[in-house]
Amino acid sequence: MKKEEYQVVFEISDQEQTGRIVNSEGIKPYFFAPEVERKDAPRLPRVAEVEVTRHYTRLAEMNLGVDHTFYPLGSCTMKYNPRFSLRLASHAGATDIHPLQPLDDLQGALEVLFHLEQMLAETVGLHAVTLMPAAGAHGELTGLLILAAYLRENGFTKKKKIIVPDTAHGTNPASCTMAGFEAVEVKSGPEGFVRAKDVESMIDDETAGIMLTNPNTFGIFERDFKKIAHMVHEAGGLVYMDGANMNALLGIVRPGDMGADIVQLNLHKTFGTPHGGGGPGSGPVAVRDFLEPFLPGERIVKKDGKFVLEKRAHTIGRVRAFPGHFAVAVQALAYMIRLGSDGLKRVAEIAVLNARYLRALLEKHFYMPYATETLHEFVITDKYQKEKKGITALDMAKALLDRGFHPPTVYFPITVQGAIMIEPTETESKETLEAFARALLEIAASEPEEVKKSPQNTPVGRLDEVGAARNPRLRYTFPEG
Ligand SMILES: Cc1ncc(COP(=O)(O)O)c(C=O)c1O
Repeated sequence: MKKEEYQVVFEISDQEQTGRIVNSEGIKPYFFAPEVERKDAPRLPRVAEVEVTRHYTRLAEMNLGVDHTFYPLGSCTMKYNPRFSLRLASHAGATDIHPLQPLDDLQGALEVLFHLEQMLAETVGLHAVTLMPAAGAHGELTGLLILAAYLRENGFTKKKKIIVPDTAHGTNPASCTMAGFEAVEVKSGPEGFVRAKDVESMIDDETAGIMLTNPNTFGIFERDFKKIAHMVHEAGGLVYMDGANMNALLGIVRPGDMGADIVQLNLHKTFGTPHGGGGPGSGPVAVRDFLEPFLPGERIVKKDGKFVLEKRAHTIGRVRAFPGHFAVAVQALAYMIRLGSDGLKRVAEIAVLNARYLRALLEKHFYMPYATETLHEFVITDKYQKEKKGITALDMAKALLDRGFHPPTVYFPITVQGAIMIEPTETESKETLEAFARALLEIAASEPEEVKKSPQNTPVGRLDEVGAARNPRLRYTFPEG
């Protein structure tokens, strides 16, 4: 790739150019107070419209996305999302409205949100849902603030600890801390799931609850979930389930039936909106009936045939300005109605079948931390390749890019050395899974010197990833300083 193909927009700027024509006739100038007025004009790039279009198209083409190739990024559910739901979300009825309009104008939008809440509640086997949280981790925080408010309201002031297993998603302990709890770790057992007896020994008067990611970060179903939920309830605590991996369970089991009191979902993983790209996402939270009064913001209720908003007695307050990301909600509702309950169940069945098939193609050749059966994703490691040839998980990830595949997640979960976490999703064909397995096996069998040169067919080669994280260059420096 030539240098000019990855210039930043300032480098193609030409002060003689203009990208827009503004007719300022009839527009009254607005003057700011002199002390806040800037002294120099901003150094904005000046690029003709056609060049701007080409510039950003070129940048987009340098990227690797679900629409280009297989994207088995474990834990992220990078599946193909059907375009019909996007088309519905782009409809003027969905885009040309504002949450501050009178409610009489917004009855259709409120109906969409109301139905989606009900369908999600039914899906997870709980009673009420808020669509307000903007993403999964935000949903976790919201759910835990609800838990905290419930404990406060009932005078359980000693309960400050949440048990979080080492199999939980990384955001879980962080959310506990942000909500004012102390996260205490329980180690998973030798089969990769949390054992009830290990949780039992940790429960005491200070236990506010447990937070279980299910299926967990190894893609393994938490088999003792029901027993654990019972024990936590007996001790006066509540059970939080991180339901971001619900794509493995849809229509098969419901968290509420297993004893979960609070569950967050990631609509941008499971329900028709792509994950990644900086959003927007949506992390609805579902709760059991006695927690409904604590839900954030206003609730949508139907009264005398009209949708109205009602504040609940013990609401934790708003967790963001408006009821939720509306376009994501439209996509989720469209996706659920189009698939129906049988279709949603089929999503989970195929997601698990695809992951198991791919695992079967790879497991003889890679070390796996657990032999336990997995659901929608699985973790292999670089142990054999590293010991034999010095080929690491990172080397294999980079070499996959040269073969046209987006790499799986590497070095996560952090409890597994050299982890390679693979989530194929339900939208991939048998042929794609086989082609990916062939590519990975070919890389593992290659000479290390070759593999370590990768990637060679991408716009940039190996990057200093630590440097990029520690010293990010987020500003353009003009040549003259
Ligand atoms: C199991 C699990 N929990 C929580 C999250 C966090 O979700 P978000 O990235 O939307 O904040 C993710 C993200 O993929 C996840 O996989």
